[in-house]
Amino acid sequence: MDAFEEAGPGALVRGIVLPDPVPSHPLLEGKAEIGRGEYSIVFDKGDGERVYKVVSSPADYFLLTADDRPQGRHFPIVHVDHGVIGRAQSGYLFHLLEMEKLYPLAPQSSSAALALRLAALYWEACRQWSRLGADMGRIALHQIATGPTEFQGSMHEALRALDEFVEGYQVLPDLLHADNLMMRKDGTLVFSDPVFIA
Ligand SMILES: Nc1ncnc2c1ncn2[C@@H]1O[C@H](COP(=O)(O)OP(=O)(O)O)[C@@H](O)[C@H]1O
Ligand SMILES: [Mg+2]
Repeated sequence: MDAFEEAGPGALVRGIVLPDPVPSHPLLEGKAEIGRGEYSIVFDKGDGERVYKVVSSPADYFLLTADDRPQGRHFPIVHVDHGVIGRAQSGYLFHLLEMEKLYPLAPQSSSAALALRLAALYWEACRQWSRLGADMGRIALHQIATGPTEFQGSMHEALRALDEFVEGYQVLPDLLHADNLMMRKDGTLVFSDPVFIA
């Protein structure tokens, strides 16, 4: 058993959080910070519909703005790209995006059940391919997206679109952290932060 297998899903609770101060921008003045991860800061716009998301990871910026980004029911809707608003301590640029407001998965919802099932299958596939090192996640996703699968309809399409994006942009999938899968007000599962760069 290697270190990855031994760790188990419990070890994947996100620890690191972006240490940067909020970059100054007129649109962010007075806005409440409602989320922060390793690469992004999220602010409530206050209209109940949208948030401002400051992203620093190029993987997130591509996912949310590229012409050929994955789209459809399970991907976040981005309304406006407000441009570059500074540089993170990591060296990456801060881009300010205006996008749909999403919500944590409600514990007993069908979206939460779907996310758990997806994470379990993805974890299982990762274990199978762990000897491939850095390529593990991409191969695991590819297997789930294109092999025999229990996922159907829009969910299957979303996995295929994510697989193509991950392949094309050489980023890595992250389908394990619960806070990277969110839902719309109507309960739809949304891949809010499904990729990262090593
Ligand atoms: N569209 C959104 N609406 C509301 N909250 C969000 C949205 N996107 C992300 N968040 C919150 O902000 C946190 C950080 O966002 P995330 O996309 O995971 O950034 P990172 O790339 O830093 O991991 C998430 O865990 C979530 O709680
Ligand atoms: Mg995240």
